[in-house]
Amino acid sequence: MARRYFTTPIYYVNDRPHIGHLYTTVVTDTLARFFRQQGEDVRLLTGTDEHGQNIEKVAKKEGVAPIVVADRHALTFRNLWKEFGISNDDFIRTTELRHRLGVEEIIRRIDAAGDLYSAGHEGWYCANCEAFYPEKDLVDGNCPVHGFKTEWQREENVFFRLSKYGPRLLELYEKGVEGKPFVFPESRLNEVRSFVESGLKDLSVSRTTISWGIPFPGRPGHVVYVWLDALVNYITALGLGSSDLTLYERYWPGIHVIGKDILRFHAVYWPAFLMSAGLPVPRQIVSHGWWLRDAKKMSKSTGNVVRPDDLVAAFGVDALRWHLVSAMSFGQDANFSDEDFLAGYNADLANGLGNTLSRAVKMSRDFFGGKTPSVRRKTTPGGPLVFVAAQKAGDDWKNSFEGYRLQDAAAAIRYLLGAIDAEITATEPWKALRQPPLSSEELFEFRSHVLYDCLEALRVAACMLAPIAPRTATEVFRRLGTDKRAEDLRASDLAWGLLPLDAPLPAAPPLFPRADAKEYFASRGAGTAGASKESSVADTKENISPSKQIPPSSPETKISIDDFLKIDLRVGEVIAAEKVEKSKKLMKMTVRIGEEVRTIVGGIATAYTAEQLVGRKLVFVANLAPAKLMGIESNGMVLAATLPETGEASLLAVDPSVPSGAKVK
Ligand code: ME8
Ligand code: MG
Repeated sequence: MARRYFTTPIYYVNDRPHIGHLYTTVVTDTLARFFRQQGEDVRLLTGTDEHGQNIEKVAKKEGVAPIVVADRHALTFRNLWKEFGISNDDFIRTTELRHRLGVEEIIRRIDAAGDLYSAGHEGWYCANCEAFYPEKDLVDGNCPVHGFKTEWQREENVFFRLSKYGPRLLELYEKGVEGKPFVFPESRLNEVRSFVESGLKDLSVSRTTISWGIPFPGRPGHVVYVWLDALVNYITALGLGSSDLTLYERYWPGIHVIGKDILRFHAVYWPAFLMSAGLPVPRQIVSHGWWLRDAKKMSKSTGNVVRPDDLVAAFGVDALRWHLVSAMSFGQDANFSDEDFLAGYNADLANGLGNTLSRAVKMSRDFFGGKTPSVRRKTTPGGPLVFVAAQKAGDDWKNSFEGYRLQDAAAAIRYLLGAIDAEITATEPWKALRQPPLSSEELFEFRSHVLYDCLEALRVAACMLAPIAPRTATEVFRRLGTDKRAEDLRASDLAWGLLPLDAPLPAAPPLFPRADAKEYFASRGAGTAGASKESSVADTKENISPSKQIPPSSPETKISIDDFLKIDLRVGEVIAAEKVEKSKKLMKMTVRIGEEVRTIVGGIATAYTAEQLVGRKLVFVANLAPAKLMGIESNGMVLAATLPETGEASLLAVDPSVPSGAKVK
């Protein structure tokens, strides 16, 4: 049986995870699930990188031992992965004993190969990356990754003879492993190749400036360089350094999925360490692009992160998994926007999957006594159309996953769902009066055929969705009257005709209720778009009320002046205000707009106190349909800017001399 060992990076524990970390873990899990579904013996590893200067700093600031910080964040990661249905077989922490033993083992091997020596070392150091950068790579003297200031640092260190491995690395890039390029995408292999071709310097692999690390064997006062420590996790988790090498022998070499920010460490240093230690190099380094926010890499140090909390509370885990996989061309950068999220959610999940499924199920229930049809038609290479579409989609889906084009795998699902919807629209199975007219037997047969095909195609679509959104796939199976679980699927499940005949179809609420973009944004920050940094889960849960009328907002759509004038913007005066109990963000305001007094709730309580609001004149949307926020009916919306740094609301100021009720346009 083919074997495949996937790993994610092990994440630093100086912060809670954001969308970027989630992305890598979700795509790796999706790949692992896909190959398991193909019948391979797959292992998936993730974990946390707990040593180094950054964690030491956070701990110092909090006045606690570094392990306290590490324990806390490692747990956060672990819990998040559980919540997201990540199917990891192991979770490694670099503070574990098994890891330290493995690091000691690899250092022993590298030393035995004669590749370690001591020397003085100085250079430009980025504390954020924990790496020295050559002067030519600095951007205006700053780190090329984060743009942070670098410092000139000097140390007496243990060095690794990286320079010696240039030729063998170039050969690796040239030949690849098992006929596949060593780095995906290949454009990035070229970057790595030119870096190595420009000449490798030996690498300092011990530190004396910090103490939070693995003691360097035989070097009192030195700890192991955090990247040497971290990279080795991929094999210490398989038992290297212990007496039981079963997993190591079964799964190594593995496939490392990473962000492009850490490509050099994985494609240059890591194989060189392994070559020196006499161990096989990884099968492949698969590197993806960055989620950007305002054209910058989303990262804690830049302060532009999006956390998953709000979106998950409102739409569920699988909606975010779907978005992450489908909305980014794997390998490229992409911008993260809530508008795109909502548009994709409504188009693909609420409509494409949810609505098509409930229509087909409802018709089948209505016509066939709450069951799937009792007869089906034979397929031919040319039809029915949904069968042809399912075959094509299935092939595209498989090829796309195998080529790491995850977005195309998602597009194949979207295509199949579109074909099912088109089939329902074209055949109108609900119509009893047909042209030419049908006898009741003929009508029964016609409906059976069409609906069986549509339900069966939905089952195939769910099989294809399973690696991306496993819980949803399982739920779709349940709603189709089968008891499959996403985890039990195999390649053969994509075959046509497996949906049981005459199987009871349960009644069920909408799978993905349509989202009202306006309400969503209103619930999260005074009606302003954009992801806020933090916001309470409790706020959003209640605020989303699915609605059928309002189409998804698209950032590209231009509106006419008439459209704009439909919004009745008014100056209002806050005459009373009170924070909504049990909500972090919501403020209940009593507002006078002209003669009228009404209640308006806004997500501004983290930025303003009640006292700061009373007496102020602000701009309100006066003709917004009423919405319930945490049980309070809000009749309007307050306008505010979103501060890019913090996501906090900043209210639009109005000159106090403007009378309340004045129109704004
Ligand atoms: O670098 N877009 O850990 P880390 C996409 N501990 N992916 C992103 C991202 C973004 N904006 N931001 C982060 C480390 N990531 C080391 C790794 S491995 C032996 C040691 C993802 O917590 C991406 O996978 O900084 C990136 O490589 C990883 O998080 C870095 O996580
Ligand atoms: Mg980082």
